[in-house]
Amino acid sequence: MLESFDMNTNDSQSRMEAIVSLCKRRGFIFQGSEIYGGLAGTFDYGPLGVALKRNIQNSWWDHFVTNRDDIYGVDAAILMNPKAWEASGHVSGFSDPLIECPKCKRRFRADHIEIIDGVQFCPNDKEKLGTPRQFNMMFKTEIGATEDPTSISYLRPETAGGMFVNFKNVVDSFHPKLPFGLAQMGKAFRNEIAPRDFIFRLREMEQMEIEYFCHPSKWEETFEHLRKEFKSWMISIGLPEKMIHEVEIGEEERAFYSKRTIDFEFDFPIGQKELAGLVYRSDYDLKQHTEFSKTDLSYFDEETKERFIPHCIEPSIGVERTVLATLASAYKEEKVGDETRIVLAFVPSIAPIQIAVLPLSKKEELSTPAQGIVKKLKKIARVQYDETQSIGKRYRRQDEIGTPYCVTVDFDTLNDNAVTVRDRDTMEQVRIPVAELEQYFTDKFNI
Ligand code: GAP
Repeated sequence: MLESFDMNTNDSQSRMEAIVSLCKRRGFIFQGSEIYGGLAGTFDYGPLGVALKRNIQNSWWDHFVTNRDDIYGVDAAILMNPKAWEASGHVSGFSDPLIECPKCKRRFRADHIEIIDGVQFCPNDKEKLGTPRQFNMMFKTEIGATEDPTSISYLRPETAGGMFVNFKNVVDSFHPKLPFGLAQMGKAFRNEIAPRDFIFRLREMEQMEIEYFCHPSKWEETFEHLRKEFKSWMISIGLPEKMIHEVEIGEEERAFYSKRTIDFEFDFPIGQKELAGLVYRSDYDLKQHTEFSKTDLSYFDEETKERFIPHCIEPSIGVERTVLATLASAYKEEKVGDETRIVLAFVPSIAPIQIAVLPLSKKEELSTPAQGIVKKLKKIARVQYDETQSIGKRYRRQDEIGTPYCVTVDFDTLNDNAVTVRDRDTMEQVRIPVAELEQYFTDKFNI
């Protein structure tokens, strides 16, 4: 009898701990530089983690770039001319309020610390904290062998900048008609004062961003279109709609150039927190880059003969926060008889392994046909061959890493040329002829 239960949602800390522990145990995600004691705000991906992350990124790229005609992919350099960050406002304004304890010298984000009667106290030693100062979160570096102020550059704090500086290149080479977008995914770096909550707040992360350009009069309908598309992609990777909350950001909290911003918050184990943002950025960025680079970034509409600076809407999402959201929504503990089985109920499109092929015994008479099945199925899916330990343990292991189907090759296979296919979620088993396996999974995965 299968009894499914959600881990106590009040005990969010233990749910997060269970996910972190599974990630390490099964080779998804490790602390960065772990053998040296770690490096705060960095994490390394193991074989299953990198597969999960890539599948999410590929799904985003397919949804927004490959399957559309109006969004163009770019891959800009991480290091950019520092003037680009002056233009975007990051040099002067990309900062968080930093507060330091005069006694233990620990540093905190001032807006994360409670104010009691106008005073803030150190969470470590309860000492009265000083006055906050603004701390720029960009990582500075020096370009070339000379050390002078002109050689300073920054590791990009967001991928967006690389798209704005390539706006003219794409317009001149592809002549896209408005509305159109640029898309980019890749690393971004932020010297966060307080990295925390596993892969939620990092110093080195990846973003998937789109800068979508439209006529100023069309921003509202474009915003609505992107809002729906963004959400439908989130649902397509298995995030339950009820765990995604669209939060309208009020005028006082929005950037001065934005007439509308929606945060997509998600029910993470650490609470309802920002997963993604959708921001109407007006013509702010193209205007700033026009001014700072002295390059005309206007657009000429051949049909209307109008020249103008397009307005921009930006859907932006962090890869690691998406990974965490998929892990958090897929993680289940189920009672099966007296045992508890752990399952990662990933949708097949993002599961690191989609099919595990398991010969009942290591004997060559079973391992050879099983290897043949692996070779065949690898043409259409991500397949793993596993012959170690008992079949029950192998099923549990595959459940725990989120493999939707197990194919078991047993001694009957030698006579009936059929295998048992086990469904991860229902644990039901069906007998399928080997000759029909490819078609069976093609249908299951909607390939
Ligand atoms: N270009 C707009 C931009 O970068 P943002 O809200 O600062 O906007 C976008 O970041 C997304 O990047 C966030 O919604 C979040 O998913 C992710 N993100 C931002 N800072 C992060 C951090 N320190 N660690 C992990 N993800 C982060």
